[in-house]
Amino acid sequence: MTTTPPIKLGLFMPNCSFSMSMSTYKPHPEEWEFEYNVRIAQLAEAEGFDFLFPSARWRGMGGETNYQGTNFETFTWAASMLQRTQRIGVYSTVHVPVYHPFLVAKMGAGLDYMSGGRWGLNVVSGWNQTEFKMMGLDIADHARRYERTTDYIKVIKGLWTCEPGTFDFESEWYQIHQGWISPMPHSKPYPPIINAGTSEAGRNLVATECDWSFMCPPSVEASGGMVSDIKQRAAKVGRQVRCVAALFLIIGDTEAAAEEEKQRILEQADREALSNWLAGLSMDSNSFDSHTLDMFCLSGGSTPLVGTPASIAEAIIEMNRQGMDGVLLSFLDYYAGTQKFAREVIPLLEKAGIR
Ligand SMILES: Cc1cc2nc3c(=O)[nH]c(=O)nc-3n(C[C@H](O)[C@H](O)[C@H](O)COP(=O)(O)O)c2cc1C
Repeated sequence: MTTTPPIKLGLFMPNCSFSMSMSTYKPHPEEWEFEYNVRIAQLAEAEGFDFLFPSARWRGMGGETNYQGTNFETFTWAASMLQRTQRIGVYSTVHVPVYHPFLVAKMGAGLDYMSGGRWGLNVVSGWNQTEFKMMGLDIADHARRYERTTDYIKVIKGLWTCEPGTFDFESEWYQIHQGWISPMPHSKPYPPIINAGTSEAGRNLVATECDWSFMCPPSVEASGGMVSDIKQRAAKVGRQVRCVAALFLIIGDTEAAAEEEKQRILEQADREALSNWLAGLSMDSNSFDSHTLDMFCLSGGSTPLVGTPASIAEAIIEMNRQGMDGVLLSFLDYYAGTQKFAREVIPLLEKAGIR
């Protein structure tokens, strides 16, 4: 008998080049290519993963890798992934300043309808100055950014739940008059909405408007506190939010082999891309104060777990014990990594009763 709820498994897909390490050490630098994404998506589906999740990126970080500089826009990417899979969930990630919420509601309703309820939305308020300057867009200061994101999600939910032609919304940021979306989404009351804000304003947004909180705990031990903070904030406003940890996995046959692989990534760090990434940060939020440079280099911020299948399974089981409802996985070598995880880690999660 399991005492903890089952854990959801997601894959943080390589829809951007050099996902996720800022390093020239990459077995398959062409992994971002469309057919690679399809192969990896189909493998994840066959191995019972629950969802595929993309990064939203518009330009690279320079350096030798031009980290994430070649990338698929995530609505068009999601449409293709849904078409080439049968059961797995697929998300799109939107930057609030780039897409009007009406367009997001319309495209999302269409994808969810056409896929029979397999689509979901990750909303990003924005932090990368370089990208938004490129488009002549303003991301606003941090507090105002989250005010806008709150209105943004209200507009999308309103359009997804009110009878077509009946939704009105008036705020400083958005005005909708008799908003009409048809067909409506397949999922009821609406497709899942994720936000990965870590700041005070970000966590309040998740608690009041979102269904899932995605996070990068600085350690396994720190995850319990982060989870209960979000769940308590949501409970105060009569809501339930579930939590997912973004993990970058290096799985070796021995601890030493996994550690050596980690060192190879770090030794070949793309220092220029890394410093451009840090220079473009406009968090104003202390969100990543506990992150180390190694954490950014290995995984763009996801929590690195380095070890054997047994120690990785133990870390995930421990996070689940602390209330984590899912994990979002990334790998240096996605196909081989997903396969190794499925063959050697999932059976241990099953044995523990959480899959
Ligand atoms: C799992 C995860 C996925 C994220 N995906 C993206 C992304 O695709 N594009 C992006 O610009 N930011 C992304 N972010 C950044 C967050 O949306 C958010 O801006 C960041 O965590 C800072 O939080 P704050 O705004 O509360 O300070 C992601 C963060 C996490 C933890």
